[in-house]
Amino acid sequence: MILKAALVNSALLLAAGSSAQITNVKQAFYTLQSWYNPGSGIWDGDGWWNGANAFTVVAELALAAQTKNDSSILQSATNIFANTWIVGPSSNGNIPQQSGGNYDSSNATAWGGPAYDDNGWWALAWIAAYDATKNDTYLQLAQGMFDDLVTDAWGTRCGNGGVYWNSDHSYVNAITNELFLSIAAHLANRVSDNSSYYISWAEKEWNWFATSGMINENNTINDGLTDPCTNNGQTAWSYNQGVVLGGLVELNKASPNQSYIDSANTIAQAAIKLLADSNNIIHETCESSGDCFPNATQFKGIFMRNLLLLQQASPNDLYAKVIQSCAQSIWANDRDNTTNQLSINWAGPFVSPANSSTHSSAMDALVAAIYL
Ligand SMILES: *[C@@H]1O[C@H](CO)[C@@H](O)[C@H](O)[C@H]1NC(C)=O
Ligand SMILES: *[C@@H]1O[C@H](CO)[C@@H](O)[C@H](O)[C@H]1NC(C)=O
Ligand SMILES: *[C@@H]1O[C@H](CO)[C@@H](O)[C@H](O)[C@H]1NC(C)=O
Ligand SMILES: *[C@@H]1O[C@H](CO)[C@@H](O)[C@H](O)[C@H]1NC(C)=O
Ligand SMILES: *[C@@H]1O[C@H](CO)[C@@H](O)[C@H](O)[C@H]1NC(C)=O
Ligand SMILES: *[C@@H]1O[C@H](CO)[C@@H](O)[C@H](O)[C@H]1NC(C)=O
Ligand SMILES: *[C@@H]1O[C@H](CO)[C@@H](O)[C@H](O)[C@H]1NC(C)=O
Ligand SMILES: *[C@@H]1O[C@H](CO)[C@@H](O)[C@H](O)[C@H]1NC(C)=O
Ligand SMILES: *[C@@H]1O[C@H](CO)[C@@H](O)[C@H](O)[C@H]1NC(C)=O
Repeated sequence: MILKAALVNSALLLAAGSSAQITNVKQAFYTLQSWYNPGSGIWDGDGWWNGANAFTVVAELALAAQTKNDSSILQSATNIFANTWIVGPSSNGNIPQQSGGNYDSSNATAWGGPAYDDNGWWALAWIAAYDATKNDTYLQLAQGMFDDLVTDAWGTRCGNGGVYWNSDHSYVNAITNELFLSIAAHLANRVSDNSSYYISWAEKEWNWFATSGMINENNTINDGLTDPCTNNGQTAWSYNQGVVLGGLVELNKASPNQSYIDSANTIAQAAIKLLADSNNIIHETCESSGDCFPNATQFKGIFMRNLLLLQQASPNDLYAKVIQSCAQSIWANDRDNTTNQLSINWAGPFVSPANSSTHSSAMDALVAAIYL
């Protein structure tokens, strides 16, 4: 009887949660769009790479809403993608600005630059836009961006594998390598006539990464490597525990091997142990000092987006609980109830001012919860 009651309760909770969540996330989307700047193609207050992540959450929401037979977001999203396609490169501070804005948006260099992680975020953003629209133009751009990473970034002094963070070819860090893995693995599942090419790059990256030293004794991932190529002990940011999960899930889909899922589960569980509070709310270490400026405001959402991919491939009550708890707490405790803006600390209270980075990051959790 207890079991039956529990089942009924959780079924009710899920049913009630689902319809409420899609309504809430749509409200959050309208708020996000109050920052979208049609002239810059990104969201006011966002840096270039944050823009790629706000763009990605719009694409992910368009897809999630479709599963609820709601295509209104996809219509808006399609217009956002088309506009950002045209004007977005004018906001890329990495490239020379052209007067008149005559960029060739299909040329990968319009989106990348000396910071290779920026290249990586935009490649994943356009893959997400491709997933939502099935427009091949976006997938081809992502392929071009991956080609540039192979040419410009691959082959570090650390074992002659992996990619550098930027064109100085000095720092070898986790995020750029995780992005490289994730892009290759995503392309392997989408570029059917060249799947084996992308699988081999994803495998090469993962084999290098797994033994690079970035994964520490607790199975969490530090920021990067020292000059002599050992773990540098710098902050285990939430996004460093996230992007790798999506990469491994996609690689397992393209070239099944249980060890990829096992590794993803090990990292995800270690990350939750490190980052979640006793109510299963994820925090960034910088929150306690109040100083996440300007990049770390984005990270937690990236973790949630990728934890969802793992939950879909390898369901686990813990992951579902973390995603649900974060989404519910954000809406209940971390929201300005007049503007629906979402702020930095997902446990609350709302910290003013919120901005397009804190808001889009929190939206990632709301979007992930739509699937649960
Ligand atoms: C969406 O529409 C399809 C076809 O009309 C229907 O079978 C399905 O149950 C609907 N799903 C939801 C979540 O409403
Ligand atoms: C694909 O995207 C490009 C760039 O936004 C646009 O010009 C083109 O019309 C789109 N194609 C389709 C079939 O919608
Ligand atoms: C892409 O842009 C770069 C830099 O402006 C240029 O060197 C390159 O020739 C362009 N590639 C193509 C295919 O047009
Ligand atoms: C696969 O992609 C690579 C890199 O873009 C290219 O060199 C190669 O020719 C492609 N192979 C096929 C079969 O299209
Ligand atoms: C691993 O966890 C233990 C126990 O919490 C801690 O003392 C140690 O510093 C951690 N190691 C790393 C590399 O984070
Ligand atoms: C699965 O991946 C592991 C780790 O990369 C590797 O050692 C093993 O050979 C792979 N198994 C197969 C069947 O390819
Ligand atoms: C966004 O808000 C957070 C938290 O208030 C702050 O730390 C961050 O610097 C802001 N971001 C930008 C780009 O102003
Ligand atoms: C924020 O990220 C950008 C892009 O990667 C980088 O250029 C900048 O140095 C970062 N800022 C800080 C304070 O870490
Ligand atoms: C809205 O937020 C304010 C400030 O946190 C709070 O005092 C008020 O009760 C809230 N109103 C509603 C309807 O939740």
